[in-house]
Parts: sequence; C-alpha cells; structure tokens
Amino acid sequence: MYRTAFLTVALLGITFAQISAQTPLEKGTHTNLQNNLQNEAQIEARVQDLLSKMTLPEKIGQMIQIDVLRMMGDPSNEWDRGPLEASWMKIVLDDYQVGSILSGGGAAPVPNTPANWLEMTQKVKNYALEHSRLKIPLLYGVDAVHGHNNVQGATFYPHNIGLGATFDPQLVGELGRQTALAVRSTGILWNFAPVADLGRDPRWGRFYETFGEDPVLTSSLVTGQIKGQLEGGGIATIKHFYGYGSALNGVDRGDTPLEDAVLRRYDLPAYRAAVQAGAQTVMVNSGSVRGVPAHASSEILQTLLRQELGFKGVVLSDWEDVLKIQTVHRFASTYKEAIKLSVNSGVDVAMIPHDAATYARLLTELVQEGAVSQKRIDQAVGNMLRLKLEAGLFDAPAPKVANVSLDNLKNPALAKRAALESMTLLENTNHILPLKTSFKKLTVAGDSADVVDRLLGGWSINWQGLGNDQVSGVNTVWQALQNQTPKTTRLVLATNALELKTEAASSDALILVLGEKPYAEGQGDTANPTLNSAQSELLKAAKASKKPVVLVLLAGRPLILPELPSALLMAYLPGSMGAEAIAETLWGRANPSGRLPFSYPKSSDQLPMNYNRANASTYAPLYPFGTGLSYTTFGYSQLKAQQIGSTISVSLEVKNTGKLEGDHIVQLYAAKGSTQRQLAAFARVNLKPGQSKTITLAFPTSNLATLSSDAKGQFVGGIFSLSVGDVKMDLALK
Ligand code: GLC
Repeated sequence: MYRTAFLTVALLGITFAQISAQTPLEKGTHTNLQNNLQNEAQIEARVQDLLSKMTLPEKIGQMIQIDVLRMMGDPSNEWDRGPLEASWMKIVLDDYQVGSILSGGGAAPVPNTPANWLEMTQKVKNYALEHSRLKIPLLYGVDAVHGHNNVQGATFYPHNIGLGATFDPQLVGELGRQTALAVRSTGILWNFAPVADLGRDPRWGRFYETFGEDPVLTSSLVTGQIKGQLEGGGIATIKHFYGYGSALNGVDRGDTPLEDAVLRRYDLPAYRAAVQAGAQTVMVNSGSVRGVPAHASSEILQTLLRQELGFKGVVLSDWEDVLKIQTVHRFASTYKEAIKLSVNSGVDVAMIPHDAATYARLLTELVQEGAVSQKRIDQAVGNMLRLKLEAGLFDAPAPKVANVSLDNLKNPALAKRAALESMTLLENTNHILPLKTSFKKLTVAGDSADVVDRLLGGWSINWQGLGNDQVSGVNTVWQALQNQTPKTTRLVLATNALELKTEAASSDALILVLGEKPYAEGQGDTANPTLNSAQSELLKAAKASKKPVVLVLLAGRPLILPELPSALLMAYLPGSMGAEAIAETLWGRANPSGRLPFSYPKSSDQLPMNYNRANASTYAPLYPFGTGLSYTTFGYSQLKAQQIGSTISVSLEVKNTGKLEGDHIVQLYAAKGSTQRQLAAFARVNLKPGQSKTITLAFPTSNLATLSSDAKGQFVGGIFSLSVGDVKMDLALK
C-alpha cells in the first residue's frame, strides 16, 4: 500500500515534505519489518504477561479442546444434538476454562442453518469470554474440507482427490480463500485443513481427502490452499503429521512401517512446504510410525516438526488420540501415562473431545508430581495464546470474524470451475466422446445416475456423508443430462440391467454412472477397491449390448474394473456442481483437462503401487499417474533447460495440434540414470486450435530430492534426464 501511494503521488507531480528521503521500498520494507518485529515483541510480552497471571487450571484449560455436542441437547448423551445446554456450558467453559471448541463432522446446530451456526458459535464464544477472569477469547475449529461442508446451504467443492487432478495451485488457493471466508462468516476461524498426507494406497478410507500420491503435486496444492486460507483470514491446519497416508495396506490409523529415509523422500516434502507456507497449526497423525504412536513421539513432534521443520505454532491432537495411546496403541499403561507422553512429546492441545475433567485432573497431578514441567505447560499454553493474539482475537470485537457475510458460503461458479478442471478422461475409444448431437437416443443407468450423495462423498453435512439428510442446489447427473441434452436426442433412464438391455437395442450409446457410497476414515477402508457385483453385472450387460458404453465414475479412489468401457470419465467426488461439469464434458461444452493424481491399478494385488517408488520396475497400472485425454491433441518442441543456483529453469513450446480449444497440463519429469522418474514441475496452459505458447517451468533442485539416494532426502547433483511427453534432454545438475 505504502509503495503504491508514493508512486501515485509522484505521478501527480505533487511532492510532500513529510515523505522521507528513503525510497518507498526501503521505508516500506523497513516499516513492515519494524512493525512485524514490534508486533512480535508486543505479542511475546502479552503472552508472558498472561502466563504470569494465569493459574494452573486456567493454563490447562487452554490445552483442552471439547466437541460442541458435549454442550448440546440431552446432558446425559455427549452425542445428542439440540440447543446449547447450561450445565455443560458451565462445566466446560467455566469450571474447566476450556480454550477451544470444535464442531466434529456433523456437529451442527438444530436446525442446521447458516444463521444458527453463527448464533451457536457466538453464544459459545461469548460465554467463554464472560467466564474468563483474564478475558482470554475462545477459538472455534471445524473441518471445512470441501467448502464449509457441515453447513446446510453451503456450496460443496470437489474433494481433494479431484483437485489433485486439476494440477492447479491457483484454483486450489482460491478455493482455500473462499472457504476461509465461509468459515469466518459462521463465527469460526480455525479450519482443520488441508490434509498434507499423501494418498499412497487407494485401500485407505481417506484416499479422497488427499491430493494423490505425488510429493511435488501435493506440496504445490497444499501450499496453494494454505496461502488461500491465510489470505481469507483463516487459521490453517497441516494434517496429519506425519506419514498418515503411508500406513501398511492403507489401514486407517494403522502403522506406517516405512524407514525414515523413505518417508523423507515421499511423505515429508508436503508437510515441509505446508510449514513454509505459514500454516499456524498442525494436527497429529492418529496412527503410529514404526510402532510408535505419533502422539507419543518426540522424534516426530519435537526433533522433526519443531527443530528440523522450524514449526512454531500449535500442535493439536486428533480425535481422542491421547487416550488412544493407551486404549488403541497399547503404548501406555494408563491414561495418565498417555497424557504425560503426549504432552512431553509435544502435543500442545488435546482434542479430548468430551471429558475435560479427567484430563485436567490427571495433567494437574502430573505437574504437581513434576512429571510434566511448568515450563512445558507454559510453552504449550504460550503457543495457544500466541495463536489467539496473532489472530486478533484479543482485539474487541475480534475483527477476523466480524461482519463477514454468510453469502460467502455459496460459490457455485467456483465449484463448477473446480469440477470441470478435475474431469479426467481415461478412455475414449473411437472418439465416442463428446456425444454427438446426431444421436437419436441415449440410455442412462447406474446406481449413481440419479442420486446426490455420491457426488459429495463423506464430510457432507454429516461425517459419513449425507445419509438421510437432503441438500438444496445440487443436481443429479440424470437431471443435469436432461438439462443439457438437445431436444432432438431422446434420453431414457434405465433403473436396472433388464431395462438397460431392453432400451440398449434402440440406443446410440449407453451412459453408466457408477460410484461409491459415501464414507469417511476407517469406515472407507477396503482390501479390494473395485466395482461391486451389481455394478459389474450392469457393466457386463451394457457391454453385451455391443453398443458404445460411456462409464462415469463417482469415486474417491480408483475402482478396479472387470472390463473396459468404450469411454471412461473419472469424475472423483465433484461436489455441488459436479453433475453439470459431467454433463458439459460429455456433450463437449467443456474439454476435459484433468490428469490422474494417482496410479490406477488393474487389480488389488498390485497395491500399493506408486509410479515413483523404487520397486516400481513392475509398474503396470491400468492407467499411470498423470494420465488424461483431451478432445484435442497437443505437441511439444524446443525443450531447453538450465540451472541457476538451486533453481532449474525449463522452457518448451506447446502447441494445440487439434480442432478444439483446451487446457493442457504440461508435466515435466526427471530421472537420474535408471531411477524411476519423478514429477519435477507442471503448468496449465490454455491453447486455441493451432495456437502455440512457450512456457517456462522454474523449480527448486529439492523437487528432485526423491531421485537421490541420500538418506536424509537431500538433493544430490549429477546427470538428470528431463522429459515432457516424448521430448527429452539430459542436464548436468550441481
Ligand atoms: C477426525 C479426523 C480429523 C478431523 C478431526 C475433527 O477424526 O481424523 O481429520 O479434523 O477428527 O473432526
């Protein structure tokens, strides 16, 4: 601002004596720097001042997070929803001075309306402030992982796995910013997002919450989302630290057996990028790493997260994971020992999420016995106080959640752009797609053709997905197809295999829409990510008709197919505008540009299968990582590269050699000798038919670290081969 103002003034030919002799840049930078340092020093002074005044119970309250359901409805049932309940409000926010409240998946006010969300969070926050001797404001947290997904009336964006297919950090940043505004409009600042875990195994129930299997793609999108959330004024959470996506056989909250050298090459880069992007909080991996629960690992939470990655913010446990050190991981003999282990390992705030009293009592005992030091308590509480001060919560009224319009909950245009960019065309035999307006009849069938919940997936109004809840403003694929199919083409919906066979004979093509029932976390684990028997039967029946079969998949993971359709559109979990995006893509109003962010297996016994794993000499997926077709074609030429310090700069010419305009994702891969190739950089480019553009990709040598055999995952120089499609070149890197 300052710099712009100076230049404007100069342009007007007016000079003001008071403008200092310093150039705006110096003064601006100096002022900003001085402000930051001053600001930091002021915040530090206030943290120390508060700590010096707080009692131990008040401090321990800041280390506890309780779910709002505890304070709702029937006092004897911590899962009951209903009006806020006075006796539990008193216990949680007065007696135990709890410092933060969350709404876990589905923990919505009754009725679930945007206005009621704002009223509920304001009530909770006001009650906490009124009952805080030192006026320490409460922080409220929520999982807004594809839009503000718990709130009726909010737009649902595509889940991360589909955003992975966009290879578009700018888009993901805009989604993050818009989501932060939506969350703030309901009085909430803390969003438990983004997931920075890799999706290394589609048997995992949380595969769809990741941006896919690649470190460079995930780092880029996580960075984009965090920057967007910060621009939107929100508090971001890096989850779940670390290696959560690499548990054996994709078992949720299982053990990640991988050696550190492997985790450092694949899993760590995205978390490191997220810390560098400025996320203020970290949520811990509920699983274990090489047998040690992450919640009890100072190697992970101190040595790696604090010392090596330099993270200075708040470390939050995941749901009930302190107790689970004892009850699930059997790593501690008592709950009290579990609390000691987690606090001393580096967990600052425990998402209990119901029983504040026991946690407070046991932690008080631990401090009195000297098993947990006052110093460690002050460090944990200081992190939380600093987070609240930096968020401006102590300023009255808290500016960050004041007057942000509830209109921010809706953004169908952004949702549609995201869904369109995620559409990934994997098969298109004889160019059956786009559908032809000359078609006289199309038959639509499949369990996901005329339902809403499979477009949205888990974390949608309810933790495990819509269930019996309805939402407005979301069309089914069948409805969108009816809206977009020319009147000259008859559209029929077959509700079973028999009807499909009957209608097929007189149809130009069959459109099957198959998908997964919504799920979240462990409930979505499977040993065999495949079509179910009814879906396989329908696909077989469609194929038996000898008519072209277009299969649209609504799934959070690759589903193994018993046989191939003529055309295959991977639509992932595309959100509120997913049906429109599918219909527009099928009819050619949009040209698909998505690229697979994961490896698509032929069979489950190939799993886990990642394109860039050392043992991938047997890498034989149905569709490799990065696959995607377009309705046009693209060509590459003039690949050039040079190293400038620790940055590699690659340029090449990209041409649209087909007849339709389209976006194209240029993927630059690198290999070192006989290593597996690794995605090094990527960029989206829009080209009209016949148009060429020279694009430049600049990336740090650290993007090539996975190609080095260095145990610490550091980059090692040498001769690298770079390739984009079929153009290749070698480059000596230092
Ligand atoms: C869940 C998830 C975590 C989420 C938290 C609060 O169990 O593991 O991602 O942020 O609990 O809902």
